[in-house]
Amino acid sequence: MPTEPRPARELPRDELWNVVGTIRHDLAARGEILPPAWVDETVDSIVQGAGSAWYTGDKARPSALAILWVREGHGYGHLHALAGSSAVPDITRLARRLTDALAPQVGRLDIGSTGLAQPDELVAGRLLGAEAGFSTLLRHSMTRPLSAEHPPPEPRWPSGVELTTVRQVPMEQLTALDWRTYRGTPDETLLSATPEGNREVLENALAGLFGTYLDEASPAARDPGGRLLGFAIGCQESLRSGVVLDIAVDPEVKRRGLGEALLLRCLRGLLALGYPRAHLWVTDGNVPARSLYEKLGFVEDTSASIFRWVRPPSGR
Ligand SMILES: CC(C)(COP(=O)(O)OP(=O)(O)OC[C@H]1O[C@@H](n2cnc3c(N)ncnc32)[C@H](O)[C@@H]1OP(=O)(O)O)[C@@H](O)C(=O)NCCC(=O)NCCS
Repeated sequence: MPTEPRPARELPRDELWNVVGTIRHDLAARGEILPPAWVDETVDSIVQGAGSAWYTGDKARPSALAILWVREGHGYGHLHALAGSSAVPDITRLARRLTDALAPQVGRLDIGSTGLAQPDELVAGRLLGAEAGFSTLLRHSMTRPLSAEHPPPEPRWPSGVELTTVRQVPMEQLTALDWRTYRGTPDETLLSATPEGNREVLENALAGLFGTYLDEASPAARDPGGRLLGFAIGCQESLRSGVVLDIAVDPEVKRRGLGEALLLRCLRGLLALGYPRAHLWVTDGNVPARSLYEKLGFVEDTSASIFRWVRPPSGR
């Protein structure tokens, strides 16, 4: 039977550590990398009462956990189902608990999940989707083999483009372009809700918090006047896989072949470094990016849902 959510700081620290550790492990298994200190920091903030988290089930045997973060006025949540028959009711109940916990000025919440079998994840998405404010954002993991026998073709750069690496570009320029190009796409608030938050995500990427940053797989394109036109960031996901963390082209120069050239350069860099596979995540509704990845040989292998909640006009 599903139980009412209770504050997770009641849970024994070891139990909490196990569950949060499992979340990190499950995310890593599907290629979503978190900074090394994430587990300890998350557990500490829950235990010390600074972070918000709830569980269902028994204190000695929780059945699901929900964690909430609020950054820059935007809510981010994570749900984790432990083995159990009540996974879907627990998860939907906890998702509602997260929305109830939001301050009135927070209008939006993106919730990821782990521990649910894919059919259960879809059922949970459908059940939540019947409620005011909820929708589901489907994200796909895509991979592409890299081999010296069939290397990604040489990029064809649009005329006038000068090449450098992401590391050489001032952070202000990277952030400004990244922020601008995601406006109006389904991904616009997925990682951060403000330019400052966006900058932090990019700084963390270059610092290697989501996998070692690889200069050889992170090209940036400028015009002759030095204006940044686009870039791609390639990192090491594991010894057997490189990950394309980000690719962004200035809206003013989209559809001129730059995104394709940047991605090819990134893939050739990963191949040259010896990675036999490239991996990335893309949101279902991001048609330009999905088409680009499919064109360059990426194939979907798994999917994950983000449960998105937008505060209905009258509150809830
Ligand atoms: C995705 C993105 C990098 C593509 O860059 P771009 O320079 O416009 O793409 P290109 O001109 O090189 O196009 C290459 C291929 O991508 C696909 N594509 C690009 N834009 C497209 C669009 N608007 N609709 C459909 N397909 C599109 C096509 O397959 C195209 O090949 P074609 O020209 O033979 O049809 C760019 O749209 C962008 O910066 N988007 C916002 C950031 C983002 O979503 N990044 C991906 C996160 S997963």
